[in-house]
Amino acid sequence: MSPSGPATPGTPATTMRAIAVTPGKPDSLHLREMPRPRVGDVPGGRGALVDVVRVGVDGTDREIIEALFGTAPAGDDFLVIGHESLGRVAEVGPNVPSWLVPGTLVVATVRRPGDSVYDRIGMQDMTTDEPRERGINRLHGYLAEAYVDDAAFLVPLPDSLEAVGVLLEPMSIVQKAIRQAFEIQRRMKVWSPARAAILGAGSIGLLAAMALRLRGIEVAVYSRRVAPYRNSELLEAIGARYFSTTDTSLAQLAAAAGPFDLILDASGFSPLAFGAAEILGKNGVLILVSVTGGDRTAELPTDHINQRFVLDNKVMVGTVNAHRDDFVAGVEDLLRSEAFYPGWLAKLITNRVRGLEHPEEMLLHLRDDRDAIKVVVEVAASQRA
Ligand code: BGC
Ligand code: ZN
Repeated sequence: MSPSGPATPGTPATTMRAIAVTPGKPDSLHLREMPRPRVGDVPGGRGALVDVVRVGVDGTDREIIEALFGTAPAGDDFLVIGHESLGRVAEVGPNVPSWLVPGTLVVATVRRPGDSVYDRIGMQDMTTDEPRERGINRLHGYLAEAYVDDAAFLVPLPDSLEAVGVLLEPMSIVQKAIRQAFEIQRRMKVWSPARAAILGAGSIGLLAAMALRLRGIEVAVYSRRVAPYRNSELLEAIGARYFSTTDTSLAQLAAAAGPFDLILDASGFSPLAFGAAEILGKNGVLILVSVTGGDRTAELPTDHINQRFVLDNKVMVGTVNAHRDDFVAGVEDLLRSEAFYPGWLAKLITNRVRGLEHPEEMLLHLRDDRDAIKVVVEVAASQRA
């Protein structure tokens, strides 16, 4: 029962439940009762109260749960996790934009502005400050019954995306990566990528394959497991080719599916990301998106890689988080994906946990199910106290 006593029918609840950790403390994942946010918590009448529908979890959440990552907000000793949200607006302040009305399906961006020059122009994804990210760094996340935020950080989705909209945050990471590649390649004046390699066939790799296929690019995905398995079949269904690191070397991959104008690493295995520098095509771009928390080292043919980078005008770039525009672009790609490959995105949601009441079950799926693609918590299915 909640500390404030049972909720009386008809009276708005003053508390809610959330899944949290004590950052830095392993095995501290827990369900907790906390004050329910109010629309007036955001000044200037720009707040929106959002009822959470479902939340996806990823490797960042796993690292936070394992106490390798994550920071509590100032004044709290806990962090509500969850940064891949989907919710419905319940209540809005008087000064929100007119597109935001109760009932609107929304996804919230993750990073909030600090003080750097980038933050001041809405580019907190490029901040030079210590980042503040909901559910990750210094701000509570969305694995709760509800959240409140400034309307400026919400992105509307059409109702037709209710089933797959929870994939928008990971899709925004992909959108930023692709946008970075095109921004950088403006140096080439006429760059028009024909062939891409994606390293890693997890949810980011799969969404990247979709986004590149939607742009008419030939895609080869290179990952550990031997085909056929679910992910390789999903890739085949959208006309991408799958290669396994077990029986194909990087050189063989390049011979079979290159030369690559673009390589995107989402493998989480840094030796592979840096090794792939060797097979990047002339004038190509290698984009790194994996946050690798370990301290792995590798021996690589650096003279050869260096020489080819110089003689072939190649570039390698890291990218983190996403601008609000990348979420908006992501909505378009989710819609186009549903139009061209109906039902494909829903197949990425492989594991569902019903309600907030089973954080340990969520962790089991996230940590131990090697067949899982995307694990989600069905927050709206929670039992009200
Ligand atoms: C999130 C990003 C975040 C990054 C680093 C990722 O899992 O999706 O929004 O910037 O972790 O904290
Ligand atoms: Zn993430």
